Amino acid sequence: MSVREYTHLLRDVSLLASGIVGAFVMCLACAAEPVANREVTPDALKAFSPPNEASMPMDDFGKAVRMGEQIFNHTKENAGKYVGNSLNCASCHLDAGRRPNSSPLWAAYVSYPAYRSKNGHVNTFAERLQGCFRYSMNGKAPPLGDPVLVSLEAYAYWLAKGAPVGKPIAGRGYPKLPPPALKADYTRGSQVYAQHCALCHGADGQGQSSDGKTVFPPLWGNQSFNWGAGMHELQNAAGFIKANMPLGLGGTLSDQEAWDVALFMDSHERPQDPRFSGSVEATRAKYHDSANSMYGRTVNGHVLGSP
Ligand code: HEC
Ligand code: HEC
Repeated sequence: MSVREYTHLLRDVSLLASGIVGAFVMCLACAAEPVANREVTPDALKAFSPPNEASMPMDDFGKAVRMGEQIFNHTKENAGKYVGNSLNCASCHLDAGRRPNSSPLWAAYVSYPAYRSKNGHVNTFAERLQGCFRYSMNGKAPPLGDPVLVSLEAYAYWLAKGAPVGKPIAGRGYPKLPPPALKADYTRGSQVYAQHCALCHGADGQGQSSDGKTVFPPLWGNQSFNWGAGMHELQNAAGFIKANMPLGLGGTLSDQEAWDVALFMDSHERPQDPRFSGSVEATRAKYHDSANSMYGRTVNGHVLGSP
């Protein structure tokens, strides 16, 4: 299939996604066995919906909101000096940061300042955005007050218009899957990958681009997220994949398949953790001492993260 055909396919599945998947996500929340461990209270079922595109203000504030949306969707084109790979923010926060269970921006906006164990202090929303540049975008954190951060903050603030503050908000983050029934497995994961993912992301995980624009983002390799990014942790990847992949068919993989393919994806090499100290072992001990991280583990005779 050519990239053009893929693009058509993508458009088709996006159409599907806007219709069925919305309903499907609701169903996940109301089924007898919902994505377990997720809090499903009657309150949590009232999903927040962000304002529609047409209601974006036309004034100077609106200009910043629009710029923020552009940065979010086309990150390298609009914030190139802070980006070190070919992903966009929207590659992992779908529908321009609007979709519930795809770590939507509106839910994030009302959840900061917050303490993060990743850096051991209370983070402002702006600092949280900096982290995604450094790790997920394998780039550099824009300085506080930089127009890039201010625009993204404006966009997130606008999306969160009317969202409840001071209580947990449904649809935040990626769903937390229960631990897999069988230990996640590379070989099973490779089979799930070949069957459900390779069509778009490529057999080699490098995605597809057209005219220099990423159509299907790379899942590993030097143009993907780095070893410090949240997506390299199996529970984040499994939750994201379960809810959102294959694109347009979120919720169709079993939990076991999501864990297996997450492990397969995160068993491949990617850019170094920017906190790398010179030793994979020491870096693992300090930042990746968890069953959810493959960093420093040996897969197919290769120590992941080794330079
Ligand atoms: C490779 C996938 C990926 C990309 C690309 C990415 N993010 Fe994220 N983002 C994540 C993951 C995973 C988390 C959750 C991390 C965790 O819980 O440790 C997250 C969390 C966040 C949060 C906090 C969400 C919350 O509810 O606390 C914000 C805000 C955010 N990202 C914004 C951005 C912005 C802005 C960009 C682009 C500059 C971006 N992300 C690019 C994967 C990504
Ligand atoms: C129909 C095409 C398609 C299929 C099939 C598909 N994806 Fe994706 N995937 C995408 C697109 C497109 C994006 C970026 C979303 C956007 O930009 O709106 C994406 C984003 C991602 C991301 C976050 C960005 C990155 O590069 O890390 C991950 C992880 C991912 N997919 C994993 C998977 C896995 C695992 C499967 C198989 C279970 C899969 N995808 C199947 C099209 C697809």
